[in-house]
Amino acid sequence: MGRMDGKSVFITGAGSGIGRASALRCAAEGAAITVADINGDLARATADAVVAAGGRCLSLAVDVTDEAQLAEAVVAAVERYGSLTNLVNCAGGSIAADDSVTKVDMDVWDHTINLDLRGTFLACRTAIPHITAAGGGSIVNFTSVVALQGNFKGHVYTAAKGGIISLTQALAGRYWRDNIRANAIAPGVILTERVRDRIGLAADVPAEDAVRTALEMNARLVDQRHPFGVGVPEDIANVVLFLASDESRMVNGAVIPAEGGAAAY
Ligand SMILES: NC(=O)c1ccc[n+]([C@@H]2O[C@H](COP(=O)([O-])OP(=O)(O)OC[C@H]3O[C@@H](n4cnc5c(N)ncnc54)[C@H](O)[C@@H]3O)[C@@H](O)[C@H]2O)c1
Repeated sequence: MGRMDGKSVFITGAGSGIGRASALRCAAEGAAITVADINGDLARATADAVVAAGGRCLSLAVDVTDEAQLAEAVVAAVERYGSLTNLVNCAGGSIAADDSVTKVDMDVWDHTINLDLRGTFLACRTAIPHITAAGGGSIVNFTSVVALQGNFKGHVYTAAKGGIISLTQALAGRYWRDNIRANAIAPGVILTERVRDRIGLAADVPAEDAVRTALEMNARLVDQRHPFGVGVPEDIANVVLFLASDESRMVNGAVIPAEGGAAAY
C-alpha cells in the first residue's frame, strides 16, 4: 500500500526542481498527479517521467498568476481523477535582479509578488472549494529560509515568502473547519537546475560533489555550522510527501525549516 493511495495532488511549477521531484515522489506512493507549469514542455516531460515510473500524471500549461487558467486546470484535474485532495504550491523563486529595498527596481516587485505570493494565493483560492468537496486534504506552500532571518539581500523575495508564511497560518486557522490542513516548507539552498545555473554549477556534477561545492560557495546563507543547509530536490520532496500524506495529520499551520538549522543557530 502506498502512503498517498487515494490522493489526487495538484502541483504548480512541477516542470522542474522541487515540484518535479515532489510529483515523482508522491506518484511513487500511489497519488494521482496533476502537473501545472507555465512551460507546457517541461510539464509534459515531468508527466512522461511519472508515467515511465509507473505513476499517473496529467500535465497542463498553466500560469499561476492567471486565475482563470488555474480555475480551468483544477476542474480538469477533478474531471480526470474524480477529486482533488492536495495542493502543492511550488511555482515561484527569486530573480537575480532582486535587491535591497532602497536599490531594487520596482519591476522586480511586480514580477516576484505576483508569481510567489499572488500565484500561491490564487491557487489556494481555486483549489480549496474542490478539496473541501472531496472531504478535506492538505495544502503545502513554499516559503524560504530567507523569510526566517534578515540577512538575504533580495528584499522583494523575502517579503513575498514572509507573506506566504502568514497566508499559510491564516489558511490553517480557517480551513480546518473543512478538514484541510495547510503547512509551509522553508528550504535552504536546493540544487535545482535553476540554482545550479545561478551559482555556476554544471547540471551533471553528482549530487554529493554539488552539495559540497555549493556549501563552500554559499557561506552567506548557510556555512559550516549548517552542513545540512544545502540539498537536492529529493530532500524537499520527502518533506512534501510527509505534509501531503495523512502521516502529518497533527501538523497544521506549521512552517517546517529544511535549511540545516540556519534559522535556528
Ligand atoms: N531552490 C531553492 O534553493 C529554493 C530555496 C527556498 C525556496 N525555494 C522555493 O521552492 C519553490 C520551488 O523552487 P525550485 O527551485 O524548485 O524552482 P524551479 O525554478 O526549479 O522551478 C519552478 C517552476 O515554476 C515554473 N513557473 C515559473 N513561473 C510560473 C508561473 N507563472 N506559473 C506556473 N509555473 C511557473 C517554471 O517553469 C519552473 O518549472 C519556489 O517557490 C522557490 O521559491 C527554492
